[in-house]
Amino acid sequence: MPATSAIADSLRLHGVAEAQDLFPMHLLQALRQDALALHAAGRLREAATGRGTARQQTGLRGDSTLWLDDPQCGDAAADFLSALDGLRLQLNRELLLGLHEVEAHYALYPAGAGYVRHRDRFHDDDARVLSLVCYLNPDWPDGAGGALRLHFPDGAHDMAPRLGTTVLFLSDEIEHEVLPATQSRLSIAAWFRRRT
Ligand code: OGA
Ligand code: MN
Repeated sequence: MPATSAIADSLRLHGVAEAQDLFPMHLLQALRQDALALHAAGRLREAATGRGTARQQTGLRGDSTLWLDDPQCGDAAADFLSALDGLRLQLNRELLLGLHEVEAHYALYPAGAGYVRHRDRFHDDDARVLSLVCYLNPDWPDGAGGALRLHFPDGAHDMAPRLGTTVLFLSDEIEHEVLPATQSRLSIAAWFRRRT
């Protein structure tokens, strides 16, 4: 897949890669429907930061989430996890990052909610190597906010959370935040993990 080598090159050079149409549109649409149905049924839970005993609800982030391997999720979630696993194998061939497994969750940020500037590695769990965020919002208006803001030494770069856009970045290197939006914002966040 040529897309994967372009992603690998960009990760090597910049620690970040952006891809359009990495996943088929019918799969993204099915994921959106699945996430919205789960949300309507009250299945998404307010997210926390940290894990295990360090897990806390601190107001650092305002999203609600559900892991894609939860039995409540539909077929699209399983299909997406398979696609991520295929990507994991391809990236391992290109980047030798030793990606061992992948985890992913739906995330819904209500209007006004964000996630403060952070890195994706926990103090008590350094298994996350590569982060992937895939957006599920068709027709996102320019003035709606909700950007993913990536921080680099020479400035910030904002990405609109539009359906079809996927962003990958090195979990321990790239600081980022989610800016509040004027409407609810749906995404999948995934992490490729190494063996610890
Ligand atoms: C995260 C995160 C970014 C986004 O869940 O850790 O940074 O754009 N998400 O949803
Ligand atoms: Mn993050």
